[in-house]
Amino acid sequence: MKIIVGITGASGSILSIKLLENLKGHEVSLILSENAKKIMAYETSYREEDIRNLASKIYSNKEMDADIASGTTKFDSLVVVPCSTSTLSKIACGIADNLLTRVASVALKEGRNIILVPRETPLNAVVLKNMYTLASLGVKILPPVPAFYLRPRSVEDIVNYVVGKILDLLGIEHHLYEPYTPK
Ligand SMILES: Cc1cc2nc3c(=O)[nH]c(=O)nc-3n(C[C@H](O)[C@H](O)[C@H](O)COP(=O)(O)O)c2cc1C
Repeated sequence: MKIIVGITGASGSILSIKLLENLKGHEVSLILSENAKKIMAYETSYREEDIRNLASKIYSNKEMDADIASGTTKFDSLVVVPCSTSTLSKIACGIADNLLTRVASVALKEGRNIILVPRETPLNAVVLKNMYTLASLGVKILPPVPAFYLRPRSVEDIVNYVVGKILDLLGIEHHLYEPYTPK
């Protein structure tokens, strides 16, 4: 499977790292925004160079002439995790001012599978409207909210659950969480 992973400057960098670890064996193109690099350094011990080998190819977000900026380059899915409300809103409004938002714009016009993992709380009306616009166009909006009914015991349990949900939407099998069973 060919997957483009975008990482932006929202909180939750660990989600993108865990996702990349679980996409081994797939062709992964990675785009990190400048803010994503800062937040990753703030929240984790990982740096850009540590996650380089988890992707087949890494692009600069300034690389507007990259192959993936064109609809002629085929890929199966785009995942933006974590997705800042800024990047989400740009995508909803058709702003394509960096490689990631351009790729998202292309993915929209080509009808490709798009999964956005926005982390923000509470959500203002502008962002909610933009989420609605995107969801109406078939974009999957997957906020990183825990499944409390599965009784998570650690942050790792919550991260595994969210990444498992992303893999579900990608159609990739995993064992990151146990399905709900009535007690
Ligand atoms: C420590 C820190 C945490 C942030 N967390 C969030 C967040 O959870 N969600 C969000 O939408 N923006 C968050 N931001 C703001 C974004 O980084 C900012 O809007 C930025 O312009 C996003 O740019 P990008 O989408 O190109 O990465 C955070 C900023 C900082 C400094």
